[in-house]
Amino acid sequence: MNLLKTFSLFLLLGLAVSAPAPDKSEESKESKESLESNESKDSGEYDQSTITKKIYYDSPVVYKGKHEIVNIIVPLNSLNFDDEYEGDDTSIDRNTILFFVESDEDGAGNRIDKGLYVLKDGKAKKLLDNGRDAAASFDNSKDVFFSAKDGIYKYDPKENIAVKYGTVTDSIIGIAKENATDVIYILTEDHNLYKVTEDGQKKVKMDDVVGAREIILDYSNNLYFYDENKQPYFVNDDGVKKIVGLPKNPTSVRLIRPPFAIDNGALFISDNVAYLIYPNGTSERTNFNFKSNAKPSAFGLETTTIHYYAYHKKIYEYNVLSRVPSGSTIQSTATRSRSSLKAHSSHFMHS
Ligand SMILES: *[C@@H]1O[C@H](CO)[C@@H](O)[C@H](O)[C@H]1NC(C)=O
Ligand SMILES: *[C@@H]1O[C@H](CO)[C@@H](O)[C@H](O)[C@H]1NC(C)=O
Ligand SMILES: *[C@@H]1O[C@H](CO)[C@@H](O)[C@H](O)[C@H]1NC(C)=O
Repeated sequence: MNLLKTFSLFLLLGLAVSAPAPDKSEESKESKESLESNESKDSGEYDQSTITKKIYYDSPVVYKGKHEIVNIIVPLNSLNFDDEYEGDDTSIDRNTILFFVESDEDGAGNRIDKGLYVLKDGKAKKLLDNGRDAAASFDNSKDVFFSAKDGIYKYDPKENIAVKYGTVTDSIIGIAKENATDVIYILTEDHNLYKVTEDGQKKVKMDDVVGAREIILDYSNNLYFYDENKQPYFVNDDGVKKIVGLPKNPTSVRLIRPPFAIDNGALFISDNVAYLIYPNGTSERTNFNFKSNAKPSAFGLETTTIHYYAYHKKIYEYNVLSRVPSGSTIQSTATRSRSSLKAHSSHFMHS
């Protein structure tokens, strides 16, 4: 098992197994199911770890809404991480800015948009009534792009508003932004994938991609999607490659932007089990699975050290660091400097 992955999974597992006992709220009878964790210290590997409803009882709710939360995006760019930052501030959640999307379903299972929001200084503000997804790159910019029913928008951090971007007017359900280029990928409501360049003026259809349901880019600009059969694929200019080794007929799946520490690969949740999928077409089952009644409706794991989970119309924040002994290497990744985040990431990669 590669070290990076061990590191990230350790964070998740650390979160799971070190969760303090819930307080005696009326809900706590549920905690009896508790976390069933099989940790084999001798081998240094972990066995299955099941996330149960218990994790929702002891963590701060940072947002409470009226609709299901279906997407959380935590920008790793200068909105949240400043390379100029000199301090030694371990409370990186101090002012974390995140974006999230709400939607409901009608009786026939059709999506009803309920808005795209920004959460800033603890305050939620709706930016777009018909926003569906957001994308931010891992670079020095403060750029965040939104997909909406009538095209692409861009975040204006000064005014805290969304402004129209480029000339695209399609109804867009998914968006992804490459790092350090002007390339944006959009997934339209009719399940076509387009590459958008030249400041949103030029749109080219990627003909190899058929029937995509959700898209995601990893931190090495690898693009993934899954199709109507809920099977994931990797796509680049050479074409489309099926990712193998996943369950054949899942009921529900999600593509999740991974913690930054995994720089080559994405997370794929098939029913209640999390898999890592790679651009070489392989996949690996992780140690993580969810009780079906505890599955988050959205994940914001990007920063690695602060995790956001949406569950039953609320967003929960987990500071993984507060569960890790101070002075450990993981603690020392707590900084607002993106370059040191990267340094730590590559340290784990190559150590
Ligand atoms: C943990 O290991 C024990 C013994 O091998 C097994 O009976 C149990 O089902 C395991 N629990 C989980 C959650 O995998
Ligand atoms: C993103 O692009 C910048 C500029 O080219 C580069 O320095 C950085 O390493 C890239 N980030 C990742 C995660 O590849
Ligand atoms: C595919 O990529 C993953 C992650 O980089 C690596 O662990 C795995 O060994 C690779 N598999 C093959 C067959 O190349």
